Amino acid sequence: MAVGIFDSGLGGLTVLEAVRKRLPEQSFVYFGDNAHAPYGVRDAEDVYNLTTAAVERMWEAGCDLVILACNTASAAALRRMQERWIPADKRVLGVFVPLIEALTERSWGDNSPPREVAVKHVALFATPATVASRAFQRELAFRAIGVDVEAQACGGVVDAIEDGDLILAEALVRSHVDALKRKMPHPEAAILGCTHYPLMHDTFQDALGADVKVYSQANLVAESLADYLERHPKMKGSGTESLFLTTGDARRVSDRATHFLRRQITFQSV
Ligand code: DGL
Repeated sequence: MAVGIFDSGLGGLTVLEAVRKRLPEQSFVYFGDNAHAPYGVRDAEDVYNLTTAAVERMWEAGCDLVILACNTASAAALRRMQERWIPADKRVLGVFVPLIEALTERSWGDNSPPREVAVKHVALFATPATVASRAFQRELAFRAIGVDVEAQACGGVVDAIEDGDLILAEALVRSHVDALKRKMPHPEAAILGCTHYPLMHDTFQDALGADVKVYSQANLVAESLADYLERHPKMKGSGTESLFLTTGDARRVSDRATHFLRRQITFQSV
């Protein structure tokens, strides 16, 4: 039984770690499309083609369920995939909905009409493609009214993380937070709407200030996945081993992943 976790690169490892802790018996196939990262500067067609190719590879590895642990793919490709591409015996789920349910104080799958929620001023930090898609605002509008969202496209942060240049990543995060604050001086909550950004969580929190609640996806997705698998046990898949697959240079990607997760991770090239 294996569940697929997909990202354009290393960011989905933040989600993988949380789901592994929550579901220690489950095998996972992680797929990082490092050769094509970042996705955040690509157009929707490109993101769709790359994401579907990766998901097919995870199906081959015995994953009937694939989590797109990538907001950019969730925003730019998931709806189109769900509408006409995914066969009936497979599932592909994104990472937006658990986050928005947490922000809007909803339990899993509560589809009641939108209502007022406590938080009114929300800062969204995401890739240029995710911000351009407005997928976050659309999902939020289904669930909440009267929430003011200011989005900041964080160009360059994913490239810096993929290159292992955390000094540059930190400088870029601080400048993106400054830019956001010029548009919205007092956000109450901030969404880290890219799975790479939790690797810079402390910098975001420091730049935003201690009174801003920073939401990131890993634990929220882990809870949702546990709940989903309990209700759909067949989706645990037929694959039997945990694998780390990359389209990039396996050695380089393994070194970065080992550094970020502080445990030995060995990727294989596909
Ligand atoms: N980690 C991804 C996301 O959540 C992708 C970032 C990228 O490749 O630009 O959006």
